Amino acid sequence: MVTVMAEIRKAAIIGCGNIAQVHAACIAGQPGISLAGVADTCLERAVSLGEKYGAEAYYTMEELLDRVKPEIVHICTPHYLHVPMAAEALRQGRQVFMEKPPVINQEQYTILKDAVKSSKGKLGLCFQNRYNPGTLAAMRLFALGIPGRVKGGRAIVSWCREREYYTESDWRGNRKTEGGGALINQAVHSLDLLTLFLGKPVSAEAVMANHHLKNVIEVEDMMEAYIQYEEGITGCFYATTAYCTNMPPIIELHCDNMNVRVEEMKAVCTDFSGEEIKLSEMQEFKFSDETSASPEENKKKQASLGKSYWGAGHMDCITDYYSSLLSEKAVPIGLKETKDTIELMLAIYESARIGEEVIV
Ligand SMILES: NC(=O)c1ccc[n+]([C@@H]2O[C@H](COP(=O)([O-])OP(=O)(O)OC[C@H]3O[C@@H](n4cnc5c(N)ncnc54)[C@H](O)[C@@H]3O)[C@@H](O)[C@H]2O)c1
Repeated sequence: MVTVMAEIRKAAIIGCGNIAQVHAACIAGQPGISLAGVADTCLERAVSLGEKYGAEAYYTMEELLDRVKPEIVHICTPHYLHVPMAAEALRQGRQVFMEKPPVINQEQYTILKDAVKSSKGKLGLCFQNRYNPGTLAAMRLFALGIPGRVKGGRAIVSWCREREYYTESDWRGNRKTEGGGALINQAVHSLDLLTLFLGKPVSAEAVMANHHLKNVIEVEDMMEAYIQYEEGITGCFYATTAYCTNMPPIIELHCDNMNVRVEEMKAVCTDFSGEEIKLSEMQEFKFSDETSASPEENKKKQASLGKSYWGAGHMDCITDYYSSLLSEKAVPIGLKETKDTIELMLAIYESARIGEEVIV
């Protein structure tokens, strides 16, 4: 009898810093996939990650792609390198899973769109907060029509990034390599969730500042934006990295029937006097499979993967991307699904730069 072994598919990680550790653990959790290669221009980091997972370590992406020939490439490098690296891997027909932000400027956006269009590889983007139990619960509420029409929303991110966060890194805090600060790096997930619920952005008027790290960083530690979405819906966005600690982001939607707060682990509904409306008491609302676990169970499941204040949904996000590769289905979160967020983010930066409203 001949036993046919299922083929093991090869994945690789480019950039072996902080977030690569989370990606490696997520790849290890994918059946039939092996982490075959890792690359970092700080070779020690590549060697250390490679040893942990039995992957070959390389200095550059080019060398790795050439020797290992991985099917799937995870891009976990500094912001300015995402697009050139993804475009090259896509040109070679590889599947690419890329960390946020997808682009740092308009020019990169055009390059990335062209690269996706002309490749047989699929680009998946890491917006893991879309998999938070709270996001899924809120989406389910809206799908059932329980909150009614959304009239407006606000997102507030108050985090702490001190001088050392920038001085110990060779790319953060620099406009050319990070592309921006509080918005593009820390609060882009919250802008993404706000936009997911409020709809299509039409225009943005924004202000940015560097309050607490003058002469240390070139990028903003505060971004404020007034956003008009279609159907007269207004979004108010505020992000700072000058706070004294990292607090969970506030994402709150004002609707016809109630206010809905999208927390990481749950959606909280309140009436207009501030009284909580318990989801368990809503006849219509049944948790879907993804959200049926209690907040405690979810927290336990995701505890080892990522910091909770920036959302611990990497495993779900990466698993969903891998299942789209296996099933030949469209990627769950690609350029098409994040178009509004990317274009809004670029419009907010442009508005803050020129001091005028910008059409998205
Ligand atoms: N999804 C999230 O919530 C989340 C959380 C943290 C970080 N990130 C993103 O992940 C990316 C990496 O962040 P990080 O905190 O791990 O940064 P990091 O600085 O710890 O790691 C980046 C690594 O890339 C390596 N590198 C730089 N140039 C390279 C090159 N040309 N070839 C190969 N390797 C190279 C660096 O040596 C470093 O080890 C960023 O885009 C960041 O925004 C996302």
